Amino acid sequence: MQTIQVKDKQFAVSIPAAQIAEQVKRVADEINRDYAGKHPIFLAVLNGSFIFAADLLREVTLPCEISFVKLASYQGVNTTGEIREVIGLNTDITGRPVIIVEDIVDTGLTMAHMIDTLKKQNPASIDVCTLLVKPDKLQVHLDIRYCAMQIPNDFIVGYGLDYDGFGRNSKDIYTLI
Ligand code: IMP
Repeated sequence: MQTIQVKDKQFAVSIPAAQIAEQVKRVADEINRDYAGKHPIFLAVLNGSFIFAADLLREVTLPCEISFVKLASYQGVNTTGEIREVIGLNTDITGRPVIIVEDIVDTGLTMAHMIDTLKKQNPASIDVCTLLVKPDKLQVHLDIRYCAMQIPNDFIVGYGLDYDGFGRNSKDIYTLI
């Protein structure tokens, strides 16, 4: 079993690069088919989605744009959870079909909040395209139209995803052991 050390933790390979590439291509093909005749704008959520977004966009054959946003965390005063505010959106999405590109949907709270924020700008439509979902951890109802892979409730790194800032540069995805 191929393992890596990231900071103080050991991880074992769980999704090899070839399998990731296959699923990224499948999702891009679905987008190419569903968005034929449209000019979507992809909104990639940094930092985690940077590798997925780069690979996905190179498989998209539609005329399209991409913009990058970040989520700034702060403690919500009236909520129990952490609210992550969308920052850096400097593109007008009014009347545009938007595809959010995310690395992983865990509880789904981040994505639900992001969708609510973007809706205020009246885009024509919003679809979610995520590399990974942990279905057993979802806490909110989310309509995830495009999902490359579903995974169990384990903590993973690689292909853009990090553990405490490290591990993003691995080509394969690794699971904490
Ligand atoms: P959610 O609001 O719980 O869905 O949080 C999603 C965010 O948590 C993702 O964008 C990641 O930044 C982070 N995250 C969730 N699970 C993992 C993981 O297994 N590895 C690395 N980051 C993760």
